[in-house]
Amino acid sequence: MSHYPLTDRTFAFIIHPIDPKADVARKYPLLGRVLPEPLIHFFSSYWPPVYISEITGVRSIHSGETACGWFVAAPYTPDRMLKLPEQRVYRKIIQTGHLAEELGARVLGLGAFTSVVGDAGITIARELDIPVTTGDAYTVAIAAQAITEAGRLMGIRATDAHAAIVGATGAIGSAVAQMLAPQVGRLTLIGRRQDALDVVRERCAGGAQIDTSTDLAAMHPADLILTVTSAIGAIIEPQHLKPGAVVLDVARPRDVSRRVAAERPDVLVVEGGMVEVPGPVDFHFNFGFPEGKAYACMAETMALALEGRFEDYTLGREIEIERIREIDAIASRHGFRLSGLRSFEREVTPEHIARVRQRAHDHRARRAPSPA
Ligand SMILES: NC(=O)c1ccc[n+]([C@@H]2O[C@H](COP(=O)([O-])OP(=O)(O)OC[C@H]3O[C@@H](n4cnc5c(N)ncnc54)[C@H](OP(=O)(O)O)[C@@H]3O)[C@@H](O)[C@H]2O)c1
Repeated sequence: MSHYPLTDRTFAFIIHPIDPKADVARKYPLLGRVLPEPLIHFFSSYWPPVYISEITGVRSIHSGETACGWFVAAPYTPDRMLKLPEQRVYRKIIQTGHLAEELGARVLGLGAFTSVVGDAGITIARELDIPVTTGDAYTVAIAAQAITEAGRLMGIRATDAHAAIVGATGAIGSAVAQMLAPQVGRLTLIGRRQDALDVVRERCAGGAQIDTSTDLAAMHPADLILTVTSAIGAIIEPQHLKPGAVVLDVARPRDVSRRVAAERPDVLVVEGGMVEVPGPVDFHFNFGFPEGKAYACMAETMALALEGRFEDYTLGREIEIERIREIDAIASRHGFRLSGLRSFEREVTPEHIARVRQRAHDHRARRAPSPA
């Protein structure tokens, strides 16, 4: 592990195992193979923070500055993070943050559930000497771009579309609702708590026709669906989607069931948040993306380092729209951009889109009443 970066634009990003066996095997191939899942959950509670790798080669296309960083891991699964007492989870994330400080990071990003737990980064930031960001602001910016782009590829114009957001009361869901409301024809906000949905609807007022529901079935008429819950298992099943629907799954772990991939070739499911990183970036660790690509939340952390913005950035569940626009501008100035779409770990190709469109067309044709 290198402690001597050649730049003062340094960052660290906390990751954690999501799919216990597969993700543990990325760092410890033998343990990942031999340990059964319940034992991984159990041991993860006692494992110390883990140094994962150095990240090199992030280079701004604007200033030519380079940034260098590290992946560090908080060894809790989402299941552990939700079931253990909050203070204990905070303690582990803060310990992992201290590891980032020792490495020399000047800003820290919180990946996946480390940004979901408790008050979404506020307590963690208070306990650390370096600034912290959840990365959620850029995640929202990229999610809004990705759903529009995926719709365009499927021939769906956003302004005419019926969009739905699942998890609309969450940090990311409520912010993306505000971004999308002025851009789509109709918007359905789906969540578990009606009172919280009403608050989000108020914030979106002035845009599309907006309705709310606590029933997942309400997404069925939607053309564009953006799902971003913190459920630890899949919640969107084949029967929830109409032929030709586009689903952007921003959640980690995924919200969309693998059954959808197997049983619904007439819908397009894409993963949210893949961003191209400027420069010859090397993560020295395979987190499951193609070379040179990162999650939007990682990209926010890197962009802040390149910009020299060493201050707490996105924290808590109220993400300001201005902040989303600002990080989008900072990131694109340095050369980060939405990059390609993936569906269940595979690149979405023009042939894939053509196949989905054809299947959706066939499905609709079969159901249309025949002329008298
Ligand atoms: N792809 C990326 O780059 C990226 C970046 C950051 C985060 N994420 C992922 O985004 C997701 C959400 O993050 P967040 O910060 O917005 O979380 P959050 O603020 O905690 O919001 C979570 C939302 O999910 C809902 N929810 C929780 N469990 C549910 C269940 N079992 N069924 C239906 N709805 C449920 C919550 O409803 P209530 O309001 O009723 O509790 C809330 O609306 C997480 O999976 C996280 O890992 C992805």
